[in-house]
Amino acid sequence: MGNLKAGNSDAITREYFDSLLLEMRHIDGKKPDCTLKLYGETFETPIMMAALSHLNSVRDKGMSVMAAGAKMAGAVNWSGMGSKEELEEIAATGARTIKIIKPYEDNAVIFDRIEHAKKCGVMAVGMDIDHAFAGNGDYDNVFGDIMRPKSLEEIKEFIRAAEIPFVIKGVLSEQDAYKALEAGAKGIVVSHHHGIMEYAVPPLRILPAISKVIGGEIPIFVDCGIMSGMDAFKALALGATAVCAGRVIMNPLKENGAEGVRDAVLRMTDELKGVMAKTGCYDLEHMDASVIWHK
Ligand SMILES: Cc1cc2nc3c(=O)[nH]c(=O)nc-3n(C[C@H](O)[C@H](O)[C@H](O)COP(=O)(O)O)c2cc1C
Repeated sequence: MGNLKAGNSDAITREYFDSLLLEMRHIDGKKPDCTLKLYGETFETPIMMAALSHLNSVRDKGMSVMAAGAKMAGAVNWSGMGSKEELEEIAATGARTIKIIKPYEDNAVIFDRIEHAKKCGVMAVGMDIDHAFAGNGDYDNVFGDIMRPKSLEEIKEFIRAAEIPFVIKGVLSEQDAYKALEAGAKGIVVSHHHGIMEYAVPPLRILPAISKVIGGEIPIFVDCGIMSGMDAFKALALGATAVCAGRVIMNPLKENGAEGVRDAVLRMTDELKGVMAKTGCYDLEHMDASVIWHK
């Protein structure tokens, strides 16, 4: 994943995953249970889709095919940027979806998208706050749409308008975690948006500090570089409520459509259960950071 150029955040993140070692706990072991309870609903796995977009180049109607795969796996689906029609198609699959809205320059667009997502019956909405700036410090231009950073007050207004849980995606500092709580967010995604900046701290490295700030008040999601159940386990043990897998499901989506996505999630969930079983972490309420050792 990514290239090996110094500073490449994907490569640094991979290296960090691989630097984490696990102790084993066998006595009093129990069969693991991966049931995830989120926003009053129950899912079969804490491995969720990442908020992807523009998947038509991977497969026709890729976003709704991914959603169908998530539903088959009993997983939470996430959706990134896309047209209203695309979100309606995703909703029609019956997948329980968290819709991430871009930080558009014009807040009217954001309020309109929040209303539309609610009409589609999504389980939560949110914003990828890390997509406000381009690499040169200008406001980002995403396929012709201009973005801009949002103030705490603006985020509070989005959250008030949403009425359903609002998730802030792209939290990679204790400061933003405090602000997310203050704004009234009902979840955060610890993420560097697949390396939107070089030398970004690996999400798992900062996760324990962010988890301390959040103090169990709201769910913490993690993405970036989750490739396996082992990666998911390390995130969950360090404080994540659930994880998002993005690029790792794109090839299965391309090759085998919804079944490919389902099988990828089931594979990672089985791997996760195997690690949970051997570390004495028998359900998501009993994940324990003390099983992790640093190389
Ligand atoms: C093709 C593609 C499209 C994406 N589109 C969005 C998007 O619209 N909104 C968003 O918040 N993140 C978007 N992301 C970022 C992912 O949600 C995720 O943060 C990132 O890919 C890291 O996870 P991964 O390493 O599992 O892929 C996109 C990622 C990819 C690969």
